[in-house]
Amino acid sequence: MSFDLTGQRALVTGASRGIGRAIALAYAQAGADVAVLARNADLLGEVVGEIESMGRRAVACPADVLDDDALVAAGAQAVEYLGGLDTLVNNAGGNSFSIPVAQMRMSGWSKTMRLNLDSIVTLTQSVLPALMESRGSVINVASVVALRGAPTMAHYGAAKAALVSFTQSLALESAWAGVRVNALLPGWIDTDLTDFLRVSDEAEAGVLARVPMARWGTSMEIAEPAVFLASSAAAFMTGQSLVVDGGLSAMP
Ligand SMILES: NC(=O)c1ccc[n+]([C@@H]2O[C@H](COP(=O)([O-])OP(=O)(O)OC[C@H]3O[C@@H](n4cnc5c(N)ncnc54)[C@H](OP(=O)(O)O)[C@@H]3O)[C@@H](O)[C@H]2O)c1
Repeated sequence: MSFDLTGQRALVTGASRGIGRAIALAYAQAGADVAVLARNADLLGEVVGEIESMGRRAVACPADVLDDDALVAAGAQAVEYLGGLDTLVNNAGGNSFSIPVAQMRMSGWSKTMRLNLDSIVTLTQSVLPALMESRGSVINVASVVALRGAPTMAHYGAAKAALVSFTQSLALESAWAGVRVNALLPGWIDTDLTDFLRVSDEAEAGVLARVPMARWGTSMEIAEPAVFLASSAAAFMTGQSLVVDGGLSAMP
């Protein structure tokens, strides 16, 4: 019963595809009205249609999270349409290159930080008053790469590790106002982001050999824990990292 989100108003970023889309649909399934944010307006429109077919309200807020003004405007549009905000899911993010630190260009480092960290700070700050009014919660989608070294992906690992630290700091700053802030740390999930690891059987086998459950996770297997974090079932949980990785991070 406590996993019910009836009456909640949620904003999910990166909701046009993959994990964010699954979270938006799962939230609607659990009873929430949902604003969806990403760059691809056509795909967002399809998600809105699916949510409306479940009998919930939904709005597309197209924006590039790397454009601060557009991002803040999209956040304001979401809050206005929903009439407030109970849950912010900072999910938009990712990594588009692998390279050792010795060869990495600082422009690549900066872009990764802006996508996976700075944009989250900007959007969260802009909608924090609405979250304080509702005593709502923030869910930051980080990654298990935040927990240890990520050779050839130091830029991505460092951004996600900083996101976990930001989660803890904001949780401590906001607890007095009744706002909860948690991080969700997926392992390897079968989305567009990990397509490059399925280009050959060898590449895929190499990834799955390090996963005790020996398979890819699905977007829905991240979306359901995201429902938990947004729900009253997680009412006494803040500043935490919920790892959902098929056992990957438990490996020695
Ligand atoms: N898949 C995994 O194995 C895995 C593991 C750990 C953590 N994660 C994290 O989970 C989150 C979602 O990943 P995913 O696997 O679902 O990735 P994905 O399939 O590539 O989807 C990424 C989403 O983010 C949006 N997005 C990307 N750049 C954006 C930008 N500049 N402005 C606005 N929206 C943007 C994309 O929409 P548009 O292209 O329409 O803008 C899309 O909706 C990311 O933060 C990722 O780091 C994923």
